[in-house]
Amino acid sequence: MKLSNRIMSMQESPVRKLVPIATKVKKNGKKVYHLNIGQPDIETPKVFMEAINNYDTTVIKYSFSQGEPTLINAIRDYFARDGIIFDEDEILITNGGSEALTFTTIAICDPGDEILVPEPFYTNYSGFTGGVNVSIKPITTKAEEGFHLPSKEDIVRLITPKTKAILFSNPGNPTGTILRIDELEMLAEIAKEHNLYIISDEVYRGFAYDGLKGISMGSIKGVDDRVIIIESVSKRYSACGARIGSLASKNKELIKNVLKLCQARLCVATLEQIGAAELYKLTDEYTQSVKDEYQSRRDIVYKTLSEIPGVVCEKPTGAFYVVVKLPVKNAEDFIIWMLEEFEEDGETIMMAPAEGFYATKGLGIDEVRIAYVLNTTDMKRAMYLLRKGLEIYNKKL
Ligand SMILES: Cc1ncc(COP(=O)(O)O)c(C=O)c1O
Repeated sequence: MKLSNRIMSMQESPVRKLVPIATKVKKNGKKVYHLNIGQPDIETPKVFMEAINNYDTTVIKYSFSQGEPTLINAIRDYFARDGIIFDEDEILITNGGSEALTFTTIAICDPGDEILVPEPFYTNYSGFTGGVNVSIKPITTKAEEGFHLPSKEDIVRLITPKTKAILFSNPGNPTGTILRIDELEMLAEIAKEHNLYIISDEVYRGFAYDGLKGISMGSIKGVDDRVIIIESVSKRYSACGARIGSLASKNKELIKNVLKLCQARLCVATLEQIGAAELYKLTDEYTQSVKDEYQSRRDIVYKTLSEIPGVVCEKPTGAFYVVVKLPVKNAEDFIIWMLEEFEEDGETIMMAPAEGFYATKGLGIDEVRIAYVLNTTDMKRAMYLLRKGLEIYNKKL
């Protein structure tokens, strides 16, 4: 039976495609440090399960299509702490940030339309858009420039009559880059001048190091009606499996129409929303302690990387990823070699090939993404194994 062209043209997740190799070597007794996937190991705050355990009901009913009021209000308070004020009818609860991104694409684009995205980008953006026949036009950014945006002219040159939006994650997955305020203001200007939406994926906001602050697009003036903010508990509160995200916009017409999609899928899981509401009530103390932990991990990763000859990488300042140019011809071959051939005391590492994070063919071939989601002891060991592996691999060639 024939499947749709749409589904056949979708790429496999570059983060998961080498998993069968890792599974095989692990079965044969090798220990693999997973630096390939953004699954945090930090404990989910206890308030999540406590709220669910204390939820007094005999029937788990459908929730509201828009979401549980208690969660919507907790998210409003979360934004309000940064001076960003949303009304109750400007927030929709979704099944993770992923559904918020899919619904946003459906609501603002028709088949054949285009969305500008700085590359390398979160690879599932291709799935959210390609699945509804919308294409991504990449704005190429470079490791040597810390993956910051190119000039306004370079971005504007990519706009066509089919361009509907600019989408970016800030802080960036996979780059770990935090966009500066002048970059956000430039994007706002472009959006106003070319009548585009801005989809600001802020699921890593809060993971900002060295005293930096992840600035929400919600605090940029003059673009209220075109900004859509994507949020999630997955990373911030280490609750990936809860599948709670949200979409917020001051464009009430947009929200009213996205609500139709929410109604079509009925609702998001009721109990997880009850738990998530408590997460959004956590104080800055929680955010600070998590941030300190990730910053220590980032420091370990960056220290080793900066000591390896031939590696190109700017110090990442946000999220928990870094894209690194390695002194190898083909990073995927190296990752597979590390899994299959390399070991020290029965241990090795797994990284994600960065090529799949680019839309432009030929870019990222010698790059990997490292997710620093392991505790500091494991992270030190993993980075040692990377350095050792590179030494042996390059001697061998
Ligand atoms: C940049 C970015 N946006 C969105 C998501 C989706 O997150 P979720 O659907 O778990 O909320 C992820 C997950 O890794 C991500 O990295």
